[in-house]
Amino acid sequence: MSEGISQADRPSAVEGHAPDLFAKFDPLIAMREGLLASGITDPFNLVMEKVLSPTRAICNGRETILLGTYNYMGMTFDPDVIEAGKNALADYGSGTTGSRVLNGTYAGHKEVERALREFYAMDHAMVFSTGYQANLGIISTVAGKGDYIVLDIDSHASIWDGCKLGDAEIVPFRHNDIEAMEKRLRRIPEGAGKLVVLEGVYSMLGDIAPLKEMVAVAKKHGAMVLVDEAHSMGFMGHHGRGVAEAQGVLDDVDFVIGTFSKSVGTVGGFCVSNHPKFEILRLVCRPYVFTASLPPSVVATAATSIRKLMQGSNKRAHLWENSKTLHTGLKRLGFQLGTEEPESAIIAVIMPDLERGAAMWEALIEGGLYVNLARPPATPANMTLLRCSLCAEHTEDEVQTILGIFAKAGKAVGII
Ligand SMILES: Cc1ncc(COP(=O)(O)O)c(C=O)c1O
Repeated sequence: MSEGISQADRPSAVEGHAPDLFAKFDPLIAMREGLLASGITDPFNLVMEKVLSPTRAICNGRETILLGTYNYMGMTFDPDVIEAGKNALADYGSGTTGSRVLNGTYAGHKEVERALREFYAMDHAMVFSTGYQANLGIISTVAGKGDYIVLDIDSHASIWDGCKLGDAEIVPFRHNDIEAMEKRLRRIPEGAGKLVVLEGVYSMLGDIAPLKEMVAVAKKHGAMVLVDEAHSMGFMGHHGRGVAEAQGVLDDVDFVIGTFSKSVGTVGGFCVSNHPKFEILRLVCRPYVFTASLPPSVVATAATSIRKLMQGSNKRAHLWENSKTLHTGLKRLGFQLGTEEPESAIIAVIMPDLERGAAMWEALIEGGLYVNLARPPATPANMTLLRCSLCAEHTEDEVQTILGIFAKAGKAVGII
């Protein structure tokens, strides 16, 4: 999904001069300048001046409640996690300066892969430098020339970019539409390789996929299945393995993609799988081979965090409570939400347009609350959203305070 403009809209080259390569960004520049000219604070340029905890930071000189991070399980300030990072920094230095297939595999990389195998109870785990690269790498490598990728139209940018990087045919279907997915699968020529790509939680509206039905349909048509569980790991499912676990179909999923940048609380990405030939990917997957591996301190924090998440059932239960309280409260206040019921730790508040969305965002930050302002092309159906993501460390009182700030801002801006 690009924000490109058509060839016809582009200024033609003045004779003797090449066209300005930045001309394609003019509509976006004009939109941004128009918004800022109204005197609004730039919602895409906020600085966290000091971070106090997983749920609090100093922004614009004042203490602010964080309701727009992916720190679902609140692991960023866990004392054991911090200790592990400090020790690894002291023992192994600040970085590996090399690819995983050369000098960039340390004991810590092996350990975090072991922790992932245990967390998911799967045979193989491969760690990438980001979740973005995990999708790029696995999708573009597994599905090759002559194969077909069937994917949800609302897939994350890293999934689309993984499709673009590879040579497979790309077949999108309407969001969460099981019949549309099956129709696409039926039309694929006999004998072609098929990969169905789904997400557990869709991060813009916070809705979940009907994985139980979709995985069954994919298997019926002989497709392999990849599920990106970036926004569900640690939180959903009995062991925190994600939506596929919660819906009882994890055993039928061929590849789970995940990230360390959300519930795990650091940075990095991974794929876990039971495929017997999985390990060959380490030699042929370009976004794994041709980049430096994660720093030792990062893999040490990730491994410690993942092991603690295995014991996270109380935190998971509290996060569900937070999600339900916020969803019910916002609905009662009269806000339009992305889902009828709370389906995940993400609750999207739908704004009528970008101008009022930005005004509401500003009123919230002035009231001491940070949320994400999301706009096209990241959002589906051209929506402007205030995305709220809850943390297991938000207290009940904090959730009530959040509702109070929303009520005041919503009335001031005229949204409710
Ligand atoms: C569904 C999904 N997949 C992958 C990623 C990429 O994760 P990372 O931040 O590790 O690159 C994201 C990030 O927001 C995501 O939402």
